Amino acid sequence: MKTASEIFPCRDIDNAGIFWIVYGTMTAINNLRCEYSANPVGLGETAPRLSWIIEDPRKGARQTARQIQAAGSREDLSAERALIWDSGRVEGDQSVFVPYGGPAPASRERCWWRVRIWDQDGKNSPWSEPASWEMGLLKPADWKAQWIKSALVGGARTPAPAPFFRRAFALPGAPRQARLYVTALGLYECRINGERVGDAVFRPGRTDYQARVQYDTYDVTANLQGGENAIGAILGDGWYCGHTGSCDRQRYGDRPELLAQLEIILSDGSIFTLISDESWKWSAGPILENDLLMGEAYDARRELAGWSAPGYDDRSWQPALSAAGTRASLVAPPNPPVRTVMEIKPAADPVKMAEGRYIFDLGQNIAGRVRLRGVTGGEGRTIRLRYAEMLQRGGELYTENLRSARATDHYTLNGRETAESAWEPRFTCHGFRYVELANLPAGFAPSRETVTGIVLQSDTPLTGEFSCSEPLLNKLQSNIQWSQRGNFIEIPTDCPQRDERQGWTGDAQIFIREACFNMDVSGFFAKWQDDLADAQGPKGAIPGVVPDTGILRDPLTGKITSHPGDAGPAWSDAIVICPWTIYRCYGDKRILEKHYGAMKLYLEYLESISTDLIRCHYLHNLWGGFGDWLAMDCIGENHLTPTPKDLIGTAYFARVAGHLRDIAKILGRTEDARRFSYLRGRIVEAFNREFVTPSGRVQGNNQTSYLVALAFDMLPEDKRDNAVRHLLKCFEWRKWHLSTGFVGTPLICPTLARFGKIEEAYRVLLQQTYPGWLYSVLQGATTIWERWNSYSHENGFGPVGMNSFNHYAYGAIGEWMATTIAGIDLDPEEPAFKRSLIRPRPGGGITWAKARLRTPYGLLASEWKIESGIFALEVTIPPNTSATVCLPAAAGAAVESDENLSAARDKTEARFAVGAGTYRFSVNPAK
Ligand code: BGC
Repeated sequence: MKTASEIFPCRDIDNAGIFWIVYGTMTAINNLRCEYSANPVGLGETAPRLSWIIEDPRKGARQTARQIQAAGSREDLSAERALIWDSGRVEGDQSVFVPYGGPAPASRERCWWRVRIWDQDGKNSPWSEPASWEMGLLKPADWKAQWIKSALVGGARTPAPAPFFRRAFALPGAPRQARLYVTALGLYECRINGERVGDAVFRPGRTDYQARVQYDTYDVTANLQGGENAIGAILGDGWYCGHTGSCDRQRYGDRPELLAQLEIILSDGSIFTLISDESWKWSAGPILENDLLMGEAYDARRELAGWSAPGYDDRSWQPALSAAGTRASLVAPPNPPVRTVMEIKPAADPVKMAEGRYIFDLGQNIAGRVRLRGVTGGEGRTIRLRYAEMLQRGGELYTENLRSARATDHYTLNGRETAESAWEPRFTCHGFRYVELANLPAGFAPSRETVTGIVLQSDTPLTGEFSCSEPLLNKLQSNIQWSQRGNFIEIPTDCPQRDERQGWTGDAQIFIREACFNMDVSGFFAKWQDDLADAQGPKGAIPGVVPDTGILRDPLTGKITSHPGDAGPAWSDAIVICPWTIYRCYGDKRILEKHYGAMKLYLEYLESISTDLIRCHYLHNLWGGFGDWLAMDCIGENHLTPTPKDLIGTAYFARVAGHLRDIAKILGRTEDARRFSYLRGRIVEAFNREFVTPSGRVQGNNQTSYLVALAFDMLPEDKRDNAVRHLLKCFEWRKWHLSTGFVGTPLICPTLARFGKIEEAYRVLLQQTYPGWLYSVLQGATTIWERWNSYSHENGFGPVGMNSFNHYAYGAIGEWMATTIAGIDLDPEEPAFKRSLIRPRPGGGITWAKARLRTPYGLLASEWKIESGIFALEVTIPPNTSATVCLPAAAGAAVESDENLSAARDKTEARFAVGAGTYRFSVNPAK
């Protein structure tokens, strides 16, 4: 019989071993972060928190003390002089979100910092390489710039061309350091001396522009020169005055506006500041229209060659108009911007269609746009680009599901294009796999090279990987990640293609835990939590989408004067569930502190709208929320009925009360914690009184009813077994298929597994027929679909009005695949994987599975195989953390570990407590 060490031949995970060889036993401190990113420029947080990763392959490696030093320059820091802060040696193992303890940094201040640690043997590490952060403009008075605009203005349905702004200026000396502080109402793209500034897209991002407008800070030192310079900006409509959701244009204002402040320190130390004002000039240019939903039209004949470089003749340009700007606060964004994260070439040459049209297939449903390259000839001819996620039977684009989103771009040739010429729209985004080119110049035959898919996404790096022996689950995992990519564009959206693309609160809270596995979304959700707080009604209500264009504010005070109202259970609860999940996954306590007031107000609001603690009671309000949105029809079938909305409402009410109890405890608010605990207990009683029979049947008597009751701990112990029995019956009635919608679906596998029904969980997950996760995979999906039957080879397309092919909600199952199949989970007591729970639960005929996760402490990995009946597990636990490793081992099975560790055993499991390092275990059930 093999042992674990034989099944996993010795190897290094993620180069940790290579480091060991090169540096011997030295511990290194890497990956220094300030708040949510490395070396941020333009930080808004005046009490920043610092984090680092310890590289040390030794078993049990951990930090026992730390020292942080900070200085105003890199040189001072290295020379250890003029330090602005020296923490001295501080005992303890905190290495994530450690508060900076120096004097509060002022606007523009740059701070260099480094850290060293002492390990488990009391030995200190070398100092880390220095890292830095730089503050943005913290006070309104820091802004000298004036808001400007052009005279280009459209109407509620009529687009206007994008204005180009420019300003030439001379610098009396060489620049030593330069920063551009810039924002727009709308979208901006800046250029200095002909070069684009940065690579971020859709800046300054999406907020409720009446409440908060983000600004960006760029280091533009290298863009400038002594003598003649020029700065330019193009403004797009974006979410500010373009179409958003089903709204007409001009929701927040009639045209885009710009605010820019260029601050330069010259080599002699003098300061040169250039601000946006009426001395700037504007002109229309080649972008005839731009809209996130409708598309972009570009006329290359109108290009303004050299418009953002010095020496350009701008005599025909108009002086900029002074604009009203906004009274909303200008804030530095905590989240990463949208960028091009990937480019995709079509897998094959395009298919020629009637009328000289060509359809390209990227092979992957994405959100973004295309780059068009090398189309020559045909001056004045306008090429039309249309986008679709799916094809109809005859091979034509399927665009019916886009509803009113036109998703069409136009490019007019100027006749001077060469084989190298390329064009990509700037201010639009589409959800698509297929793109159709029409009206190409006569004689031009496009090839695969003509079109490149540009994948746009908030730049949230991949952190999690999952794979196993079942290829269909691997494809499902890939589809989940792609739906996250396609919908994490500034805010978590429901879908990227139709006239919606909104921050639906329910979808986000359902998916957030899986999102945290796939990518580092800590900053992304810190920002969206600010959006949620902005969207909260005066009494506590949270709307269905955030930001919500239906919120009206007093322009002077910013106070909400009209609110769309509460979205109901599972949707508005995002205000509590999202920050709680971010705290759990990343250890970000501040998100809880900052939003505690909003969460508490929300809970009080729920109490105020409930009747005898039943939320969504019909006596209070007929609107019960979205219920188990998109669940299968249960009426009349085997005693099943739809899940009552007040049942879902009350269960979620208890869930958020429970989260708030835990949050209050963490924040040391003991009295609140006691109150919320008591409240939760009373809600549970109300739930049982109202919805549970003495024998343990739950109203609705369907999958979601039992799932919610069990998953949210709504039932007394003595009723749980019976409820599980009923739940299993509900699955049996459906021949082990699911019947659930947004609310029930994410609970299926976790709940079945929790109550010991692991094989049943695999059985539902691995169903290949409708409805189930793998059905869409077998119908050719490359993303997660909105509906279980969005498309089938047999019956074609599902209901057209709501039929997105890129909707991540059902992708929440990925969480279970990582935590339970591969076995990487959070310890219930410790956030951020400071202690993790490695607990793979094999089943469903799967013979191996693995997951790797870049946690805030470093790489956490779990990999198991079953060979010749032996279950072998290899885990890697990051330095400065520990783990509980649970192996599936019935009494009598032989359990081994490569370190001869001792296990605690019960009837089903062997449990090991381990520190950092790589460990191997095996279970031989036959012995
Ligand atoms: C969205 C959903 C959303 C729902 C609310 C839809 O239009 O696409 O994902 O949660 O509305 O029921």
